[in-house]
Amino acid sequence: MRRTSQLVAIATCISTIASAQIPLITNIPARTTTSLNGTWQYIIDPYGTGFYDYRYQERKENDREAYWTTDIPVDKTDRKEHQFTDRYTLQVPGDWNSQAEKFLYYEGIVWYKKSFDFTRRNPANKVYLYFGAVNYEADVYLNGKKLGKHKGGFTPFNFEVPDSILKSSGNYLVVKVDNTRHKDEVPTVNTDWWNYGGITRDVQLIEVPQSFIQDYSLAIKKGAALKTLKNIPVEGWVQLNEWQSAKEVVVEIPELKIKKAFPVTGNKVALQFNLPTAELWSPQTPKLYNVVINTSTDRITDKVGFRTIEAVGKQVLLNGKPLFMRGICIHEEISPQIRRAYSKQDALQLLGQAKELGCNMVRLAHYPHNENMTRTADSLGILVWSEIPVYWTVDFSSTEVFEKARTQLTEMITRDHNRASIIIWSVGNETPVNPVRTNFMRNLISSARSLDSTRLVSAALEVNYQPGVNKIDDPLGEYVDLVAFNEYLGWYSGLPDKCRSANWEIGYNKPFFISETGAETQYGFHGDSLTRWSEEYQEWYYREQVAMFKRMPDNFAGLSPWILCDFRSPRRNNQTFQEGWNNKGLIDQKGRKKKAFAVLKEYYDGKAIGNGQ
Ligand code: GCU
Repeated sequence: MRRTSQLVAIATCISTIASAQIPLITNIPARTTTSLNGTWQYIIDPYGTGFYDYRYQERKENDREAYWTTDIPVDKTDRKEHQFTDRYTLQVPGDWNSQAEKFLYYEGIVWYKKSFDFTRRNPANKVYLYFGAVNYEADVYLNGKKLGKHKGGFTPFNFEVPDSILKSSGNYLVVKVDNTRHKDEVPTVNTDWWNYGGITRDVQLIEVPQSFIQDYSLAIKKGAALKTLKNIPVEGWVQLNEWQSAKEVVVEIPELKIKKAFPVTGNKVALQFNLPTAELWSPQTPKLYNVVINTSTDRITDKVGFRTIEAVGKQVLLNGKPLFMRGICIHEEISPQIRRAYSKQDALQLLGQAKELGCNMVRLAHYPHNENMTRTADSLGILVWSEIPVYWTVDFSSTEVFEKARTQLTEMITRDHNRASIIIWSVGNETPVNPVRTNFMRNLISSARSLDSTRLVSAALEVNYQPGVNKIDDPLGEYVDLVAFNEYLGWYSGLPDKCRSANWEIGYNKPFFISETGAETQYGFHGDSLTRWSEEYQEWYYREQVAMFKRMPDNFAGLSPWILCDFRSPRRNNQTFQEGWNNKGLIDQKGRKKKAFAVLKEYYDGKAIGNGQ
């Protein structure tokens, strides 16, 4: 009996994992969708009762005690020990922590349930179920059948919905969400941010024709000269789910009077054509073109910006011109509600604050943010550093952990590779310098490059502090395009005047970037500049840092100080000045600017004039 059940369990596991790997359908905003956002019923399940039987074995698919099976008793004698009701509801999208006091610190399993009716626009359409993100682990069931499983808290995934499972009415969608931290996950158990759990982004049913455009890529050819802005070479591809019924792919850019047909000889169709001329995308001119991609059965439109980004010698070049990045770090948390950000409104608020600070760039820390952020950055003209949460000390010795990191990297790049605003893919943050880690990160870098050769690859490296000199000689610097590092001179080491004697030795003939620097202060707490936690201390910190920036080596390509807004962190427990918050924000949790905001803004406004970007 036991052996059979083990074989069944293994088979089930393989089939669900296999189904979870269905390739991502991109550009959801342009698809035929039915939103499943809104009010979902829930059951909190700290012991996993809905998933494990009393011997702690995974329940069989048809186990009537499993929480994915119907909660409706057969008759009045029937004993059901799980039930979803409107007295227990959560809003989707949204983390659970911010929706009720009892959830604030909750880490564990929550079962979400949504009933829905569904009529296809076209009976011949295929249907997929799409999640913008679920933190951290999602097991998805529809009408008692498992569609699949996904791990990773910040990237989208989708499952095909078989016709045999989907009904026209009374569909019973159940999602088991588990945000428990584990040593062998990405991120691992230790992070300096709140572990917001839940279905944190949109849930959509997507309808596509039997033969559809799954994904596509369009970008200016790497290394193209842009001197004349005439006949700009564009390269890319269109990925079909199956190619037999498509004879050609037609790409149109009406504003540029482009309409090109490409014969279909396989699932992936290579694109190559010239833009007769074009207005290049940049922070000053965030020009987006309507692009239309057609086959005989499918049509999709997108807004695409064309630009180039390169690291050449000691400089970063945007459209062939030297770029200085006036950045700021941002966590995906929004005030005044203090919750995971997910909406376009949230993106406009956060990116609007960055623009007010004088930024032309944001570092989206430490994980891929929602698609509204990257699409809004496209339209506002804000450059983006996008990062996977290989944060601090994940298990670099594990091939499974590497695969988890690579899956998240693939999902991040697949979702956003047509966003002109994104110029940097980052494979991690402050990882410890040792050969096993460097090999792990080097392999992630090569994965990023094979997925997308048009952008820079970076990571926040470690600083080698030596007497009299701060060396950037992290071996990982060998493999990145942009050498980035975090420094907190005057906060974690010494006082801000330590900046005055700081010498920086960048061990690579590459552009370098300060990916974090910052000091903590509680808004409204005042004292003299030596008073730790006061706004005046933070202001002094920024004044000393700015003076140091002004005498950095000539391959200094920019910075993204830590951080735009105060954010929750379970690691910050000074019960007077933190109370579960990391207050290094230039803006506090009520949206109020601290004195240091003006110091950084003044520096950036001066750089903007000098740098013209
Ligand atoms: C680190 C880390 C951040 C953290 C910050 C801090 O560099 O990258 O995630 O919040 O420093 O200590 O505030």
